[in-house]
Amino acid sequence: MYKIAIIEEFHESGLELLKKHSNFEFEIINDTSEENLIKKLPKFDGCTLRVSKLYSNVLKHCKKLKVISRHGVGYDNVDLEYIKKNNITLLITATTNALAVAEHVMYMILSISKGITSHDHSVRTGLFKEGVKDIQTLELFNKEILILGFGRIGKELIKRCQGFSMKINVFDPYVNSETIKSLGGKKITDLDKGLASADYVSLHIPLSEKTKNLLNYKKLKTMKKTAILINTSRGGVINEMDLNKALNERLIFGAGLDVFEKEPVNLNNPLLKNKKILLSPHSATFTDECKIRMAKQTVQNIIDFFEKKIDKSMVVK
Ligand SMILES: NC(=O)c1ccc[n+]([C@@H]2O[C@H](COP(=O)([O-])OP(=O)(O)OC[C@H]3O[C@@H](n4cnc5c(N)ncnc54)[C@H](O)[C@@H]3O)[C@@H](O)[C@H]2O)c1
Repeated sequence: MYKIAIIEEFHESGLELLKKHSNFEFEIINDTSEENLIKKLPKFDGCTLRVSKLYSNVLKHCKKLKVISRHGVGYDNVDLEYIKKNNITLLITATTNALAVAEHVMYMILSISKGITSHDHSVRTGLFKEGVKDIQTLELFNKEILILGFGRIGKELIKRCQGFSMKINVFDPYVNSETIKSLGGKKITDLDKGLASADYVSLHIPLSEKTKNLLNYKKLKTMKKTAILINTSRGGVINEMDLNKALNERLIFGAGLDVFEKEPVNLNNPLLKNKKILLSPHSATFTDECKIRMAKQTVQNIIDFFEKKIDKSMVVK
């Protein structure tokens, strides 16, 4: 019998799947304080993980732990070095959420470009056309988007951008130009040039030492004054204070953020007061459909791991 800790509950469809397998028993752990995790986790063979952190301070107490199954694809909340040294396998729900994130990007691009919140407010307050006569709205047709990071999400996004007849540039040093061309994009190798000509920039790169603060004031300054920046990857990839400054100085037109340097966002973070930013609470994957896909895949990965039939694309190397 394998003991599985469900760290932070997820959609019941995943737990239903686990209940059907008699060689697994599970316990839900919603108190993710360091103290509680150190107390609870040592008895488990495997665990699932959403956004809480599993670093060596906790993991060093978990001598039985063989696998961590992430409910999602990002894994900057896990101490990779530690798990590699200690033979703990990290799994992700690789195939389940790219589509939902790509749709969320389109929602942000459209909402900002079409001034959705202002238009809605104008009708509700009786101002009607008077309320939006000075609001600038934009078309996507023939506009240039720079997709930064061309993995699972970037590849879903490109299809949606084609539907709007956008010109698509891709910056990803690890993907060749043939692959990008075959999917309808153009590979660019000079990030600064790509940023300078883009009408839209959408970020789909992991957070790492290399990508931290990649978009800082200097880079934002190179962008068009009409440009819209969307970040659904990880908060630290953009320097938040630099973004706030760039928007206040009208260096770019607007931004859509689903992710933040610190989550939940501190209420005194100036980004929350900036009307040029459209915000969502790291909820790009919160569609009904995606929640079910992710919950089932998180659990299926655990089952497949212990039954020795795990799909390699789910394993973080
Ligand atoms: N908002 C959300 O709810 C949500 C959901 C899923 C994923 N994410 C985030 O989105 C990121 C992308 O997800 P994915 O599934 O597409 O990942 P992925 O691993 O499939 O793709 C990431 C791509 O980024 C490229 N890359 C790495 N470093 C780069 C750099 N410095 N410059 C340009 N490209 C670089 C890689 O070559 C890869 O092609 C994840 O790392 C995760 O943090 C957020």
